Amino acid sequence: MPAVIIRKVKPEDLDRVAEIESICFPAAEAASRNSFQARIAAFPDYFLVAEDKTNAKLIGFINGCVTNSPVIYDELFYDTSHHIPDGQNLTVFGLDVISEYRRQGVAAQLMKHFIQLGKKSNRKNVLLTCKEELVHYYESFGYVNQGRSQSNHGGAIWYDMILAL
Ligand SMILES: CC(C)(COP(=O)(O)OP(=O)(O)OC[C@H]1O[C@@H](n2cnc3c(N)ncnc32)[C@H](O)[C@@H]1OP(=O)(O)O)[C@@H](O)C(=O)NCCC(=O)NCCS
Repeated sequence: MPAVIIRKVKPEDLDRVAEIESICFPAAEAASRNSFQARIAAFPDYFLVAEDKTNAKLIGFINGCVTNSPVIYDELFYDTSHHIPDGQNLTVFGLDVISEYRRQGVAAQLMKHFIQLGKKSNRKNVLLTCKEELVHYYESFGYVNQGRSQSNHGGAIWYDMILAL
């Protein structure tokens, strides 16, 4: 397990965050730099980064907004005006770890910290959408699969996952 610091995003992390996203997701699914700039401005409290303690390099991140919707819908990804600061449900828009650091529990650390944020801010649920191959991974944190999502983000098939807090 690498020595990792999980911390809140800073505005100066923007370029590296956008770079990590472009490494981790195909172009049709990757959020743009502009999108990250808007998200960091709108909900910095729900945007965590993982930093390698040995060299301060950013190696991953997790982010999402707050909503009263019971599921994630595509407009949430593109328009930060859908963020409802006192809403019931925290969402996960993306969980990214660069390949050299994968399968060592870095994403799990990011997810656990994010779930704690949801608990501390008294949210009812954490919501995310994922592809079929990662359903079992999110189930390991307690998420329950609610079946096929209406989202067709990036032209892919997604599953709605919900974690009751
Ligand atoms: C998914 C991702 C965030 C996992 O990061 P990580 O730091 O390697 O995750 P962890 O070390 O906490 O957990 C690893 C576990 O995740 C699961 N997993 C990761 N990628 C997987 C894949 N492509 N298929 C199936 N299971 C996978 C496995 O259960 C794996 O455990 P194992 O090594 O014992 O098989 C990382 O692979 C990534 O950034 N992928 C590209 C972006 C992405 O798909 N993000 C998820 C969006 S919903």
